[in-house]
Amino acid sequence: MKGIIIDGRAIANKIKDELSQTIHGLIKNNVTPKMAVLHIGEDPASISYTKSINRVASKLNIDVDIKKIEDTTCDEKVIEEIKRLNEDRTIHGILIQEPIPPQFNRDNIILSISPLKDIDCMNPVNLGGVMRGKFNFAPSTPLGVLKILAHEKINVEGKHVVIVGRSTIVGKPLANLLLIKGRGGNATVTVCHSKSSDLIHFVKMADIVIAAVGRAKLIKGDMVKQGAVVIDVGINSIIDNEGKHKLVGDVDFDTVAEVASYITPVPGGVGPVTTLMLLSNLIKATKENLI
Ligand SMILES: NC(=O)c1ccc[n+]([C@@H]2O[C@H](COP(=O)([O-])OP(=O)(O)OC[C@H]3O[C@@H](n4cnc5c(N)ncnc54)[C@H](OP(=O)(O)O)[C@@H]3O)[C@@H](O)[C@H]2O)c1
Repeated sequence: MKGIIIDGRAIANKIKDELSQTIHGLIKNNVTPKMAVLHIGEDPASISYTKSINRVASKLNIDVDIKKIEDTTCDEKVIEEIKRLNEDRTIHGILIQEPIPPQFNRDNIILSISPLKDIDCMNPVNLGGVMRGKFNFAPSTPLGVLKILAHEKINVEGKHVVIVGRSTIVGKPLANLLLIKGRGGNATVTVCHSKSSDLIHFVKMADIVIAAVGRAKLIKGDMVKQGAVVIDVGINSIIDNEGKHKLVGDVDFDTVAEVASYITPVPGGVGPVTTLMLLSNLIKATKENLI
């Protein structure tokens, strides 16, 4: 029996409707939410992510100020720009697009974002809050995953959640959020990575599998327990049989959909919800910066 295909775009539209009411109220009070997106260098995937943020934001009357910094510049110039954005009262949120080219000192750059404007929770101050379960901002992708689970009324309490991937922006913060003692948390969490000795063994035990790996179709149907919930964070560009570029997830959708009770597609699953969670964080920052 095929599992339920979760419609991420429909969930995103619902969040959009909720946000637009708040934004309407802010604009009536002469406050237009505005975020700055900083690109260091020209990474095509992050440029396309910024375009999609901009598309959604403009429909919501959110201003997006895109700043491009040459990758030949130095750390000091980047930090100077971030400090200027920190002090600019018309900017409510700052997003630094990854990857930051390796010649830059990522830690110093990230540390210079004001925690009050850090809408994708890059600054360790905010990440520490996520670990403690007391935070202003959590990273948008883990928030998107939790939003999807809550929307589908999938209770994680007492469930064994296996996350494949331990990045600082997805896997690790998501594990911490699922471990929160309280509503929306209380899961039992296993985090796997490239050095996990028997990935299939762990994935097979999961009530909920969350794949955030960056390896096309890594998770196959025969690795997943019958009735498990499968959330696919991965976005991978592949060439299909007809020689065309195609986006696929970390989950082999066709085989996993046969055994999962719920599954997110790629595209149209986690991605659209992530963008809305980022914009929700921006609106939160806008409201809090008014005080
Ligand atoms: N939908 C969205 O909104 C959204 C947002 C962010 C990212 N993404 C996508 O999600 C995926 C993950 O992103 P990320 O930034 O977390 O990636 P990342 O920083 O590259 O981390 C990938 C993780 O997967 C692990 N891994 C790699 N190969 C593995 C294997 N064969 N078996 C088990 N684990 C393996 C790595 O292990 P090690 O730690 O040992 O290297 C690492 O922990 C990417 O496809 C990205 O494009 C989507």
